[in-house]
Amino acid sequence: VASLSVLTAATPAVRFAADGTALQIIDQTCLPGALVELQLTTLAGMVEAIQSLRVRGAPAIGVAGAIGLAVLAVRAAVEQPATFDATITSAADVLRSARPTAVNLAWAVDRVLAAGVVGGAPPAVRAQVMQDEAESILQEDIAMCAQIGAFGATLLRGGMTVLTHCNAGALATAGIGTALAPVYTLKARGEVLRVYANETRPLLQGARLTAWELERAGIPVTLLTDGMVASVMRDGVIDAVLVGADRIAANGDVANKIGTYGVAVLARHHGIPFYVLAPTSTLDPSTADGASVPIEMRSPDEVRTVQRVATAPAGVAVYNPAFDVTPAALVSAIVTDRGVWYPPYHFTA
Ligand code: MRU
Repeated sequence: VASLSVLTAATPAVRFAADGTALQIIDQTCLPGALVELQLTTLAGMVEAIQSLRVRGAPAIGVAGAIGLAVLAVRAAVEQPATFDATITSAADVLRSARPTAVNLAWAVDRVLAAGVVGGAPPAVRAQVMQDEAESILQEDIAMCAQIGAFGATLLRGGMTVLTHCNAGALATAGIGTALAPVYTLKARGEVLRVYANETRPLLQGARLTAWELERAGIPVTLLTDGMVASVMRDGVIDAVLVGADRIAANGDVANKIGTYGVAVLARHHGIPFYVLAPTSTLDPSTADGASVPIEMRSPDEVRTVQRVATAPAGVAVYNPAFDVTPAALVSAIVTDRGVWYPPYHFTA
């Protein structure tokens, strides 16, 4: 794993390395302390990066899986053309299951794998088609974020204060983010929103990532610990909640970062609109409802520690699901790249 420090302002969370032979990501575990990029060329390195949240956020891990598989295919075509099919199929299986909840990962990996099934063509040609497909997924993600920003902006206006949970910004996608996309879109039009960002225990995506990227973009941001949401809502400070999603079931139930459900309950109690913003690659019509979404369980040590410093007895029992499900009934609208959807939700293939 090669690492290189980057000082430029415009560093996307995930992309092809310039020569196309590696998956290049911002190592988000180093933020906010350092902006470091990694170039990943091995399957083990890619899986480790996804599982340890060096690259994270549903759209970003989808793009990472797509680019990762394409990079491995190009190398397999050169180094082991005779076993090309077996190599890419097993690499796809491993990448697809690196994290279970965000449907974008399996969706993107399967798209790149399917693109490589070109009857009779030599491996080098098939690998090139897979690389083109991964590039399309990357470009589509950028475009979908822009569309979410435009549609989401119709629900908001400058001067409002919004609350967000986890990080569904640029760091979570190849583009300008999902939940934060309208914030950036309105900023570009000279309309500034204030963002209250939940810290998001246990891994602090809100504190480490959302606060970092919003500050860097010149957007006023106020950091909260997760337990402060009810209080700021009662104080009348919050005009709307904007969150992303890892998977949206056919009936509109939304799996997103643990804690999202609680924010939705509180928003309903206080009469605050609760908006979910996600690309169509996060819609999963084949999952009927939230009860069928696989929820990733993570290491107890993430809860027993903060940034690897012990904050609890070493052996204490821990509950650590990475995601929860917000029932569709609590979702005021779902904003995708195709428009704004209101209940009742019914997504079809
Ligand atoms: O565990 P993470 O950090 O990958 O979880 C990310 C989230 O829950 C995001 O809200 C979701 O993926 C949407 S990102 C546009």
